[in-house]
Amino acid sequence: MTHTPAPFPTSRLRRTRQSAAVRGLVRQNSLTVDDLIWPVFVRDGEGIEEPIPSMPGVYRRSVDKIVEAAREAADLGIPVICLFPYTDPALKTEDCAEAWNLENLSNRATRAIKAAVPEIAVMTDVALDPYNINGHDGFVVDGEIVNDATVQALVKQALSQAEAGADIIGPSDMMDNRIGAIRNALEENGFQNVMLMSYAAKYASAFYGPFRDAVGASGALKGDKTTYQMDPANADEALRLVARDLSEGADMVMVKPGMPYLDICRSVKDEFGVPTFAYQVSGEYAMITGAAQNGWIDGDKAMLESLMAFKRAGCDGILTYFAPAVARKLSGK
Ligand code: PBG
Repeated sequence: MTHTPAPFPTSRLRRTRQSAAVRGLVRQNSLTVDDLIWPVFVRDGEGIEEPIPSMPGVYRRSVDKIVEAAREAADLGIPVICLFPYTDPALKTEDCAEAWNLENLSNRATRAIKAAVPEIAVMTDVALDPYNINGHDGFVVDGEIVNDATVQALVKQALSQAEAGADIIGPSDMMDNRIGAIRNALEENGFQNVMLMSYAAKYASAFYGPFRDAVGASGALKGDKTTYQMDPANADEALRLVARDLSEGADMVMVKPGMPYLDICRSVKDEFGVPTFAYQVSGEYAMITGAAQNGWIDGDKAMLESLMAFKRAGCDGILTYFAPAVARKLSGK
């Protein structure tokens, strides 16, 4: 319970703000490198680091460069790297078969990182959009995104990622029953230690725009994702989704996007007390870096403040494109 302050001047709330030492003493939350998950984009080729115009400072990297980036991240103390593939448009099909190809980009990158940088945990993304000719996270049949057939494909995709060595699998597709189906398949196939971080409360958001450029899905996407991603107007539904995913075997849950949904982060943490994460998505990153590049805000300060806000809202960690920059800032490197 919040204490009601005694009347002025018995109570002067500015007393505990008077110096850096005292501010440090009473500081309630902290941001550390342990809180960071770094999302990265993988592409074909060798020796390539290709800038993404709508995400200044973010690159699509070939597998060899991803391994170098993972080495750097591990040296900075970043615990998890999260892979998103930029798939050659020629490999996108209606049946999305590339999604469970053991030799696809994401799986090759996972194996390369696990071999070279075993101490960093690898997280992978389960959803069909990088492989789907129409840019959707599920199969499209007669204009409808079908649930149950999609879940069977997601299970195959998740198993191929586990086979490649993924430590954490992140289903971001928002189909019903995918967590349970994937959890069962992992158990049956000897992957009982593979963790599931469910994109449990994922909203149909305008803030994913730059990401869709980054993975080459923008041009491909037909229509929108409102029949499977959440309505930004809803809060109670987020708690039902989290409850459902936990009951199906999720080890950790995520709220996405981040900054506009801090109320959801707080209620998830209060209601369930489970490891709770937020994804500070591409559009949030673009807003901060874009404004900073124009000299309209102090980029470093805004970055740190935005990430501290997630901790204050109850998150245990944050997926953020700022991860290496924050890690460097926090360690003074
Ligand atoms: C799709 C996926 C998306 C993001 C992560 N996984 C985009 C979408 O749902 O269209 C967005 C991440 C970001 O914007 O940074 N499975």
